Amino acid sequence: MNKVLILDFKGQYCQLIARRVRDLNVYSKILPADTGLEDIRKEEPGAIIFTGGPDSVYEEGALTIDKGIFKMGIPILGICYGAQLMAHLLGGKVAKADPSQSEYGRAEASFCDSALFKGLDKGIVWMSHTDYIEALPEGFKVCATTANCATAAIANEEKKLYGTQFHPEVQHTEHFKEIMKNFLFEVAKLTPDWTNENFIERSTEEIRAQIGDGHAILGLSGGVDSSVAAALVERAIGDRLTCIFVDHGLLRAGEAEEVEQVFKEKFSVKFIKIDARKRFLDKLQGITEPEQKRKIIGEEFIRVFEDAKKEAKGAKFLVQGTIYPDVVESGAKKEDVIKSHHNVGGLPEDVDFTIVEPLRNLFKDEVRSVGEKLGLPHHMVHRHPFPGPGLGIRVIGEITEEKLDILRRVDKIFIGMLHEKNLYDKIWQAFAVLPDIKTVGVQGDKRTYSYMVALRAVNSIDAMTAESYPFDFDFLTEAQNRIINEVPEVNRVVYDITSKPPGTIEWE
Ligand code: XMP
Repeated sequence: MNKVLILDFKGQYCQLIARRVRDLNVYSKILPADTGLEDIRKEEPGAIIFTGGPDSVYEEGALTIDKGIFKMGIPILGICYGAQLMAHLLGGKVAKADPSQSEYGRAEASFCDSALFKGLDKGIVWMSHTDYIEALPEGFKVCATTANCATAAIANEEKKLYGTQFHPEVQHTEHFKEIMKNFLFEVAKLTPDWTNENFIERSTEEIRAQIGDGHAILGLSGGVDSSVAAALVERAIGDRLTCIFVDHGLLRAGEAEEVEQVFKEKFSVKFIKIDARKRFLDKLQGITEPEQKRKIIGEEFIRVFEDAKKEAKGAKFLVQGTIYPDVVESGAKKEDVIKSHHNVGGLPEDVDFTIVEPLRNLFKDEVRSVGEKLGLPHHMVHRHPFPGPGLGIRVIGEITEEKLDILRRVDKIFIGMLHEKNLYDKIWQAFAVLPDIKTVGVQGDKRTYSYMVALRAVNSIDAMTAESYPFDFDFLTEAQNRIINEVPEVNRVVYDITSKPPGTIEWE
């Protein structure tokens, strides 16, 4: 399989570059910039991309790479810092641009004759840099310029080394798709073999190879990821898969029943529902710290599965619906952890299973399209994401039965309204949150002192960044009315307009 390796110099668009490559049906993998040459060689990449990054090549401690990479005969595209680093390491000169020459935002570029810009002569590009390439390394030529930047792109066509000062991965660059296409197919001569069909075939083989004639269990949540993982693993090992649905008491209204019904109808796998509500809530009693809640829920999940093992013919494998953003956000290094996603970072160290993660390399929209290809129903594949720790991270502060019950009723009204008004499919994820706050209100001339709830709706491509959904004020007013009238414990409704970053999608 063709593979593009993306070396991450801590650039903000690293994930986006990976997505752009995959959108062109070539598999991409992100590795930290300090990966050794031997490990890079082992990956057998057909092309390499250096991301941008916050450093300046001439500063001490700036991220760098072994020069030997340029001798491997692999086509390389350096973007922004990546381009400067390439120029710097190969004997060119990088300097700080005069502040009047720093470029942020759009600029018009003229392209010269180069494989990277085949079929293009000019176009808007997206700049974001304070340094620039002042002198080219030997063997390089300029192949794009802007009014403020004489070296907007450089190339050594013979060695297939390219650098762009601008960001060809962002949508604001007019010909972003053509430039990426040119790099993958004109320069690196890759084949677009990263397709759903290929993924399903390859992944089925890998699952068979990993599980052999063993048995596996899978924790089904009814969400997209675990459902698609179930369908894939069922394809690979058939009835040696047992799906276990844990009702941890942190589910939404009617969810347990719905999941059971869909899975019993649609799948031939063994389906076991475990009522662990008391177990989880007992463990969570008095706990208010979000990371502690996540760890407890993650750990308890594993313990419940271990107990379920007896019913699953001593399964040694546990299938998880971990997807790529979960892997990245749970952090390769401990200090990078943003949140411990319960299906990755929240696992206890002494897990008594071998973990199988067939979706570990997929972005969410790739999971959805694989799911559809596997024949899962539309409403299941296009369901909004629901986190493993469930309402446990949407009831802020201590989790109690009373608060869970209030939140369920509020969430049901809000989500129901989205369906009624045909908004559900236009929104990436929506839910209600119960902050640990009571406020004073007045209803029927009487003072009330009741809960405040927050509504959250965001749009996102892969959960790495998100924007709050711009509802009509009428919609929000109606939601507020219905919630307060139908849920007597609530007297105030707020709408969360925070984007990610700086917020995260969930509140905890
Ligand atoms: P955040 O809150 O980190 O969420 O911006 C990003 C996406 O991930 C979901 N999420 C989780 N999913 N286990 C999951 O399977 C988890 O522990 C978890 N925490 C957050 C969240 O709902 C959003 O879609």
